[in-house]
Amino acid sequence: MNIKERIEELRAELHRHNYNYYVLNAPEISDKQFDDMMRELQDLEKEHPEYQDENSPTMRVGSDINKNFTQVAHKYPMLSLGNTYSESEVAEFYERVKKALNEDFEICCELKYDGTSISLTYEDGKLIRAVTRGDGEKGDDVTDNVKTIRCIPLVLHGNYPPSFEIRGEILMPWVVFEELNREKEAREEPLFANPRNAASGTLKLQNSAIVASRKLDSYLYYLLGENLPCDGHYENLQTAAQWGFKISEHMKKAHTLQEVMDYINYWDTERKNLPVATDGIVLKVNSLRQQKNLGYTAKSPRWAIAYKFQAERALTRLNKVTYQVGRTGAITPVANLDPVQLSGTIVKRASLHNADIIEGLDLHIGDMVYVEKGGEIIPKITGVDKEARTMLIGEKVKFITRCPECGSQLIRYEGEAAHYCPNETACPPQIKGKIEHFISRRAMNIDGLGPETVDMFYRKGLIANAADLYTLTADDIKDLERMGEKSADNIIKGIASSKEVPFERVLFALGIRFVGETVAKKIAKSFANIEELEQADMATLTNIDEIGEKIAQSIVSYFANASNRQLVERLKEAGLQFSRSEEDLSGYTDKLSGQSIVISGVFQHHSRDEYKALIEKNGGKNSGSISSKTSFILAGDNMGPAKLEKAQKLGIKIMNEDEFLKLIS
Ligand code: IVH
Repeated sequence: MNIKERIEELRAELHRHNYNYYVLNAPEISDKQFDDMMRELQDLEKEHPEYQDENSPTMRVGSDINKNFTQVAHKYPMLSLGNTYSESEVAEFYERVKKALNEDFEICCELKYDGTSISLTYEDGKLIRAVTRGDGEKGDDVTDNVKTIRCIPLVLHGNYPPSFEIRGEILMPWVVFEELNREKEAREEPLFANPRNAASGTLKLQNSAIVASRKLDSYLYYLLGENLPCDGHYENLQTAAQWGFKISEHMKKAHTLQEVMDYINYWDTERKNLPVATDGIVLKVNSLRQQKNLGYTAKSPRWAIAYKFQAERALTRLNKVTYQVGRTGAITPVANLDPVQLSGTIVKRASLHNADIIEGLDLHIGDMVYVEKGGEIIPKITGVDKEARTMLIGEKVKFITRCPECGSQLIRYEGEAAHYCPNETACPPQIKGKIEHFISRRAMNIDGLGPETVDMFYRKGLIANAADLYTLTADDIKDLERMGEKSADNIIKGIASSKEVPFERVLFALGIRFVGETVAKKIAKSFANIEELEQADMATLTNIDEIGEKIAQSIVSYFANASNRQLVERLKEAGLQFSRSEEDLSGYTDKLSGQSIVISGVFQHHSRDEYKALIEKNGGKNSGSISSKTSFILAGDNMGPAKLEKAQKLGIKIMNEDEFLKLIS
């Protein structure tokens, strides 16, 4: 067997075992055997880039190349469904359909999965594109991320139509969600409120290798195209299951309203035993011919409706309201309640969000309040039982005017719901929060230091800001609780080695409002050092791609503050990286500024990753798929025929390696 045949054999085998494991739940080989085959394939592909394939099972591990998502127009708009919470409205829907069709019909009953919707396009049995819902008309091309989801087939088997779309929901299973939040909690990062947010957040990550690690799941529930196998929606999906798709096994056809109601009632309780979140039932007229007859309103199909489950709620007493101060100074009001049982846990505290919500509820101490969980892990107060108020009604809840931690007068920025404590440099939770952010893994990544140690150092008066870390000695800390010589040494070593952390991460570590990791990277590319950034005015800042007024204003205000400038000065003296390294400094141009470039094929002079980096270094954007916005295609040998055809159709220029290198030289 030659190399090409071996590669193809491995790919086919891996696709099959993947399907057995992730869709059928029936593996035939051990994990080790699977991993060995995968490794062999990875090695062969690396040695033989000429056999590269966008749909190889190796694409599932993702890559750590940052990419900006391209917007793609949906061929058929992604509509939403009419919603109802009441069984009588379900009955009305049923009667409406009956009257309009005036013939026998079936209703396909399905679970309403609570994740983020996705549209997958397959051509000749290969996944060619995955697009988010977006605004319904156009969404983000998240193909590389979706390829890491194991139950989504990259290549199909059986008798599939040459071209079709299939839609469904991407989900984060409860166990994965809980594990992820436990990790986030340990790192003191903000938690995901529910699996839906976690799934959509994950799908939009820039780094597909992280997406691959998050173990997303998916169910597909809607097949679209010109040449579908059957007239029945249910039958089409059962057929799609044979091509390799994961279709819910809980779909059921109903022939009477009673059968529909039975389905609803059964799943109202049974859904709690499912591994993924659901928030209702979707009812669809099964026949596509009948669907077409019924048609659409402006927003949603007349042939379908979503029945939403009532979120679980409990009634309990409000004892008092306390206030928490976050790293940015944002104040969160918290309701302290009589403990009450809700969806399997005991709830004692619930978020009240902000002053407007409290005002809207007309909340009084001693009120009987409704607490809801509805898929969220942090319960919230959704209403007050005003009837239960007695003559002895408690005091009306008034939002505090001073910071509960430092006593500063609170402020509220225009257009924002939250109140803030402005005392950034002396309010304890803000100080600790900023240091915790500074040392966190994605910022300075200081080994051996965590929130508890920061808290202890702060209480002992050893540190009051990030710069103080760099003057600590092992002697200062070795006698503290749970410390000792060894841990003390480790911490001091960790602090010292953080001096090598590159400029962009130091910028992120400063914790300037709205300057997250991505913005910090952009800034580090645009300014050679912190002095240049300090001098920058609004116009210079907003000129940078993706930096708007809000971010620019925040940066200007940060450096207008003397204590921030002093902090930066001290960190500079400590030896932190406040300029781009020589390596980073060379080779940046804006020769490709504003251009969107697609890479395709196999290259001689550089790898694809190197070309991606070159495009970005020269100010261009690398994009995964060809659209009318593509400026040109950087093409190597064996450019895919589909891409070639599309480029020719749209009249997009195709450039070879040499031409490209000349362009940027
Ligand atoms: S069908 C035109 N079926 O609910 C009908 N949607 O508001 C297209 N969803 O955006 C949708 N489970 O994200 C359909 N079994 C299911 C579903 C489902 C969840 C979501 C989907 C859609 C929203 C409808």
